[in-house]
Amino acid sequence: MTPPAQIPQASGTLGVLLVGLGAVATTTIAGVFAIRKGLALPIGSLTQMGTIRLGKRSEGRSPKIKEFVPLAHLNDIVFGGWDIFEEDCYAAARTAGVLEGAQLDVIRDELEAIRPMPAVFDQRYVKRLDGPNVKKGRNKRDLAEQVIADIRAFKARHGCDRLVMIWTGSTEVYMKETAVHQSVASFEKALEQSDDAIPSSMVYAYAAISEGIPFANAAPNLTADVPAMLELAARTKAPLAGNDMKTGQTLIKTIIAPGLKARLLGVRGWYSTNILGNRDGEVLDDPESFKTKEESKKSALDYIFQPQLYPDLYKDLCHVVRINYYPPRGDNKEGWDNIDLVGWLGYPMQLKINFLCRDSILAAPIVLDSALFLDLAKRAGMSGIQEWLSFYFKAPMHAPEVYPEHDLFIQLMKLKNTLRYMQGEELITHLGREYYD
Ligand SMILES: NC(=O)c1ccc[n+]([C@@H]2O[C@H](COP(=O)([O-])OP(=O)(O)OC[C@H]3O[C@@H](n4cnc5c(N)ncnc54)[C@H](O)[C@@H]3O)[C@@H](O)[C@H]2O)c1
Repeated sequence: MTPPAQIPQASGTLGVLLVGLGAVATTTIAGVFAIRKGLALPIGSLTQMGTIRLGKRSEGRSPKIKEFVPLAHLNDIVFGGWDIFEEDCYAAARTAGVLEGAQLDVIRDELEAIRPMPAVFDQRYVKRLDGPNVKKGRNKRDLAEQVIADIRAFKARHGCDRLVMIWTGSTEVYMKETAVHQSVASFEKALEQSDDAIPSSMVYAYAAISEGIPFANAAPNLTADVPAMLELAARTKAPLAGNDMKTGQTLIKTIIAPGLKARLLGVRGWYSTNILGNRDGEVLDDPESFKTKEESKKSALDYIFQPQLYPDLYKDLCHVVRINYYPPRGDNKEGWDNIDLVGWLGYPMQLKINFLCRDSILAAPIVLDSALFLDLAKRAGMSGIQEWLSFYFKAPMHAPEVYPEHDLFIQLMKLKNTLRYMQGEELITHLGREYYD
């Protein structure tokens, strides 16, 4: 493994393009504006608050991550995006109701200046939504070209040196990979024919990746995680990450489950339920969008527990996930988990978790970190799937020959070792024999 050559500095402006300017996107944007003004702290963001140990524990070297690797500075970011609604970011943040009005008013001018570009949207893929700010085109290829034109115009207007794109749009209906998604050639033919196998999110991903722009999918829909997009990304050297940000219940799941597994405690059942009242909850109330989310949420436990290696502990685990749309709670999701455990000699125990979280407050730092790390990956010449960013996702993208890594602590180690590798620092194995020899 040869470490990458010196990574170019993050000089100039980074354009962060968000597809879907809803609760998550506006909380991210408003948060960055407030943090830039020194009005709030970037809590939850590894790029802004995290440190990284270098060398031996005895050396006392633990710089901040943002001082160790050349990340774009928050002052150098400009935001843009698309939405099917015409509201500017201030109005959209008000509608989302995540941040307090007084906090938004301080940054109102900057938020109002961000107006959504007309979206590529087809209600077949998000059944519960419809809006007026939508592009018209001859076919899906024409729509992709319009998005490329938007990207180039945004870049020129804001004098951006680099761009990243993140899908923060609604969860689309459940779709499976088909022949259309197998190669760039078949995908481009299908774009011409406006094939149903190409949802709106794929049109944006295709546009970004064609331009060599890093792309992340913050939602669970089938978007960039298909062979055609990987082939395109290899050609244009675009880094990719996704899918579905690991925020509330799944974050807790991937914190608790590795702990139980580490102590070889068995698990017979894990019942998870949520109430959620924001627009995301409304979209997920549609069974086809919920199916996409359910698949993404359910995969983590199987990979963490490895029932094929530990059949006595996890073979017949009953894992149930429910989400109920309950408007009074807005963005303040409440999740309950009941875990049926088994200990020494098979004696049963129970663990109950009640997480009163705030969905977009947990998601915003992930959007920011993904944007900054993808931009770093691009400058480091790392294209295609960025497995080291699995840390942020519920259904992490991975090479076909390996299983995805879901354990949060392994994911963090992988992320930090990737940063050490990028900067030519020794990787940390945690062996630690040298302190005792
Ligand atoms: N908040 C979290 O903790 C979290 C965690 C993981 C994943 N997600 C996912 O992130 C996404 C965004 O969540 P949110 O709470 O901001 O939802 P939201 O409904 O507030 O925002 C989504 C926005 O996307 C827009 N949109 C839908 N289709 C579009 C298209 N084709 N083009 C442009 N805009 C489009 C909608 O109009 C809406 O404004 C959802 O898919 C959600 O499942 C959220």
